[in-house]
Amino acid sequence: MDRIRIVGGNPLNGTIAISGAKNAALPLMIASLLTEETLTLDNVPRLADVAMLKRILGNHGVDCMVHGKRAGQNGLSGETLDLTAGAIVDTTAPYEMVSRMRASFWVIGPLIARMGQARVSLPGGCAIGTRPVDLFIEALKCLGADIDIDGGNVVARAPRGLVGNRVVFPRVTVGATHVTMMAAALARGETVIENAAREPEIVDLAQCLTKMGARIAGAGTATIHIEGVDRLGAARHSVMPDRIETGTYAMAVAMTGGDVLLEGASPAILEKPLQVLSEVGAEISATNSGIHVRRNGAGLSPVDVVTAPFPGFPTDLQAQLMALVCRAQGTSHIRETIFENRFMHVQELARLGADIHLDGQVAIVRGVSRLRGAQVMATDLRASVSLVIAGLAAEGETVVNRVYHLDRGFERIEEKLGGCGAAIERLTA
Ligand code: EPZ
Repeated sequence: MDRIRIVGGNPLNGTIAISGAKNAALPLMIASLLTEETLTLDNVPRLADVAMLKRILGNHGVDCMVHGKRAGQNGLSGETLDLTAGAIVDTTAPYEMVSRMRASFWVIGPLIARMGQARVSLPGGCAIGTRPVDLFIEALKCLGADIDIDGGNVVARAPRGLVGNRVVFPRVTVGATHVTMMAAALARGETVIENAAREPEIVDLAQCLTKMGARIAGAGTATIHIEGVDRLGAARHSVMPDRIETGTYAMAVAMTGGDVLLEGASPAILEKPLQVLSEVGAEISATNSGIHVRRNGAGLSPVDVVTAPFPGFPTDLQAQLMALVCRAQGTSHIRETIFENRFMHVQELARLGADIHLDGQVAIVRGVSRLRGAQVMATDLRASVSLVIAGLAAEGETVVNRVYHLDRGFERIEEKLGGCGAAIERLTA
């Protein structure tokens, strides 16, 4: 298994090109199931989760063609995919696949909407929380689907098609908002989703569906209106920049000191994290080509943060922020409200000398003057990158084990950080 070796202490200086967003690319690729015509997606990140989803979609009958390099391209920019679900030959998503990539459960919406049936494995447990799918099931039932649980599978039927309805989520859920929006796009009549997720990835999907011929209004707000249509068609869409990758590198610069341009990043979708970073002591400025992050010499200040659905502070940046404030001059409080078990990185950061105390869903982080390198273990995607950030500032050598977690969501991380002066390398088994 690959590991990443870091020798800390180098400031970061230079430019990092931000990739397309994993959490936008996945639902966008799944949307290809809604039409027999070709959906072309540009700026698709080269990630393990994307590769896994190509296999899962292929299992349903989707042809996936990767465009070759074009003149003027450096081969480092995102992929362009032609996804064509000309005929869906299998409406089953098996456990072996769904258990490896939870978001593949989301195929259930387009499969019911287009084919009137789906048999999708329940995703099972996850390192960061129980993550049930009850709200997906309730929403699809609202649209007229008959749903049973059989042998660990969700078996859904709507032989006469789905019918628009009012769907009210008791809590904000990104995944179920994506899936309900996709299913409702082909349902008869109007669907209104209330207490919908407002994440930028929802807006990106709605924009793509609209290019395919869907009628959607209100994406990005708590109430989304979808007027169903009989069929959707071909479209071309570029995946939005990854705001979590952007926030991660911004925190790395704040951690090590330095001056980095995050090229292609969009400040408008990162307001809260950038505000928190300014409070910690980084200088943030928006430019025509992205976001500039600097920190020179000034110490780090503690902060109190509560994770929340967009536009609140994203849970997917919680671990990275925790690593950063490990070296703040004072005590920070980080409350996690989205997932019940998202502090797996705490004991690993403690191995590097961090002083963190957990009180229920609150992490109390007392800043220390120095971290020291050690062997650490990645436990999930975002926890793994928080260990990389801490390793960049720790004295001596840090080795992060099980980096397959990292490869699920960060494209070429050692190249991007190494290109800015970090002493980082991948140790292949
Ligand atoms: C998406 O997960 C993201 N994944 C997550 O990013 C992200 O942390 C999360 O949204 C919150 O922002 C992708 O986009 C692929 P939710 P999702 O449904 O859709 C509970 C990463 O690191 N819930 O908004 O699964 C759920 O358990 C990943 O890239 C139910 O109870 O998250 C959680 O506590 C990790 N029943 C809360 O709602 C349901 O049916 C929010 O989950 C659905 C969700």
